[in-house]
Amino acid sequence: MTAAQFPEGFLWGAATAAHQVEGGNVNNDHWEAEHSPHSPFAEPSGDACDSWHRWPEDLDLVAGAGLTAYRFSLEWSRIEPEEGEFSRAALDHYRRVLDGCRDRGLAPVVTLVHFTQPRWLLRDGGWTGQKTLDRLARFAEYALPVLADAEYVCTLNEPNLMAAQPVMGAMAMRGEEIRGLPRPDQGVAEALLGLHGRAMDVLRGNVRAAGMTLVGREHLAEPGGEERMREERAAFEDQFLEVARDDDFLGLQVYTAARFDGGGLVAPAPELQTLAHGMERRPQALGAAVARAAEVLPGLPLLVTENGIATADDDDRIAFTRDALTSLAGAVEGGADVRGYLHWSLLDNFEWMLGYRPTFGLVAVDRRTFARTPKPSLIWLGEVARRNGLA
Ligand code: NOJ
Repeated sequence: MTAAQFPEGFLWGAATAAHQVEGGNVNNDHWEAEHSPHSPFAEPSGDACDSWHRWPEDLDLVAGAGLTAYRFSLEWSRIEPEEGEFSRAALDHYRRVLDGCRDRGLAPVVTLVHFTQPRWLLRDGGWTGQKTLDRLARFAEYALPVLADAEYVCTLNEPNLMAAQPVMGAMAMRGEEIRGLPRPDQGVAEALLGLHGRAMDVLRGNVRAAGMTLVGREHLAEPGGEERMREERAAFEDQFLEVARDDDFLGLQVYTAARFDGGGLVAPAPELQTLAHGMERRPQALGAAVARAAEVLPGLPLLVTENGIATADDDDRIAFTRDALTSLAGAVEGGADVRGYLHWSLLDNFEWMLGYRPTFGLVAVDRRTFARTPKPSLIWLGEVARRNGLA
């Protein structure tokens, strides 16, 4: 195997999430926050990419390019819009999406919760509510007819980031002004990991493979920052990474590095920042974060459930992804058991508080007509998939 080749059976795909592409998710906490008087969102999600209706076209694009996997999420607030009132029609919708993947030869990767929660749950305790464990378990059980046929099931998406979201939802409900993403709350983080465990209890034995996804970063030290960097890395590894040890796999979502000096996190120089969140452009962070996870959790299968860049320059998206994949191939050579790579994202979509300005997609979406236009990066990634490696 050369450095730029990947193991046989490696999955190549693209990822989306319900609230970012479906449109019209009026029953969740984010819709509420988007429409609150002091909304911190640049704009509301509205019709998003209308993927609720256009999913067959989306799947055609993925399969037509030569990719072999598609990641999507279930929207809890559609499946259970009021507590205990389940929508069979909504579940059937997701079943059709799953079957649509299989019909096209795509391995479905399904996320149970990708940040959003039903409004009724937010009003009654949210992620930290006492009854939420049972409610999540009940939702996961109801969704089993879909989840059972997924290749991989992700319980919670990025609980290490998600810990900030309910804080925001609650603030929006109280009509408070929100400036920037609130700091992740430790109590919420622990509650989320408890929810992950409860979901795993429901899924184990009923699905092919279950695990969570985490935001992974390459941890770097500036002069004088070694100790601080090690502390931060250990905090991530002892609270989050360790929890995945007994799961079937771990999904890693890597976009950038985190640099530390003696005082803490260092903001990247403006010329290094990408279009979203002021993140540093550092493609090799992917291989570094994956290699480190493999070191901490030897033998655990890893799946890159997200990696990508928000840029208006599609040539740069290709260059970034090529470098990221080169570093990933290095991690595989070093012994990491990586089962696949899912690019974020298939579509230019709703980037949460930043609205539609950051463009992560392999496919452009006309905001008025929803017409999809594949970018050269989609064709390029399809060729990588066909070769199972870089040229
Ligand atoms: C990770 C999240 O899962 C996804 O929803 C988000 O759009 C990307 N990061 C890019 O910020």
